Amino acid sequence: MTLRLEGVSHAYAGRPVLRDITLELAEHRIGVIGANGSGKSTLARTLNGLVVPDSGRVLLDGLDTRRHAREIRRRVGFVFSDPAAQIVMPTVAEDVAIGLRRSGLSRAEVESRVSAVLERHGLAGHRDHPAHLLSGGQRQMLALASVLVTEPEVLVCDEPTTLLDLRNAAVVAAALRALPQQVILLTHHLDLLAGFDRVLVVDEGRVVFDGAPADAVAHYTALMGAGRTAAPEEGHAERRP
Ligand SMILES: Nc1ncnc2c1ncn2[C@@H]1O[C@H](COP(=O)(O)OP(=O)(O)O)[C@@H](O)[C@H]1O
Ligand SMILES: [Mg+2]
Repeated sequence: MTLRLEGVSHAYAGRPVLRDITLELAEHRIGVIGANGSGKSTLARTLNGLVVPDSGRVLLDGLDTRRHAREIRRRVGFVFSDPAAQIVMPTVAEDVAIGLRRSGLSRAEVESRVSAVLERHGLAGHRDHPAHLLSGGQRQMLALASVLVTEPEVLVCDEPTTLLDLRNAAVVAAALRALPQQVILLTHHLDLLAGFDRVLVVDEGRVVFDGAPADAVAHYTALMGAGRTAAPEEGHAERRP
C-alpha cells in the first residue's frame, strides 16, 4: 500500500501553493514540517482527495484521487487539529458509530467495533456522554477513534496536538505511536518526530528536505532562522540517497 505524488501542483486563486511535488510515501512513520502557509495542509489534503491538484496525480496503489476519491477516502483517514470539525454526533459512542453507517456491518458488529475502539482509546467510560462535554484531549481522542473505527490503512494527521496542552498532546502522540497503520503527521511539535522513519520539510510549496528527523529539524530550524530573504535555491531539494 503506497501513496505516490507525481508532479503535483496546486494554486488557490492563481497563487501557487504546491509546486511540482513528486514523492513516494511508503515509510511507516512520516513527518511533515514547515512554516505556516508553506502548503503542508494542502499537501496532506491531496492524499485522500480532499484537494484534487490542478496538475499532477496522487495515487494510492495506482488509484487516482481524481477518479477514486471515495475508495481512497475510505483507506486514507484524516485527523484535523480541531476535533470539533470532525465530531458530528451528540454522544461519544454515536460519533464513533456514524463512521460505520455504510459499512454493511450488523448492529452487533458495529457495537462491538465501537466498544473496542473506545476501550483502546480510554473513552469506554464516556460512551454515552455528550461529546461536547469531553476535555480537549478527550475530544481529540474521540476524533481519532471515530476515524480508526473505519480501519483506514493510512492516517494523515494535520497538527493533531496543536490545540492541546502538553499532557494531552503526549496522550494523543502516544496513541499515534502505537498504531499499526502508516501515519503521516504534520506538526509543529518537533519532538513528536523522534524515531520517525522520514521527515519532509515543506517551504513555499516545495519539499526542500527529505530525510532523517534530526536532519530535517536542523534544516527547518536553519531555514526559519535564515528568514525569507535567503530562500533556498529552486529545484535543489535535498534528498536521501
Ligand atoms: N481553501 C483555500 N482557499 C484559498 N487559499 C487557501 C486555502 N487553503 C489554504 N490556502 C492558502 O494556501 C497557502 C498554504 O496553506 P496551507 O496548505 O494551509 O499551509 P500550512 O498548512 O503549511 O499552513 C496559505 O497561503 C493559505 O492561506
Ligand atoms: Mg496547516
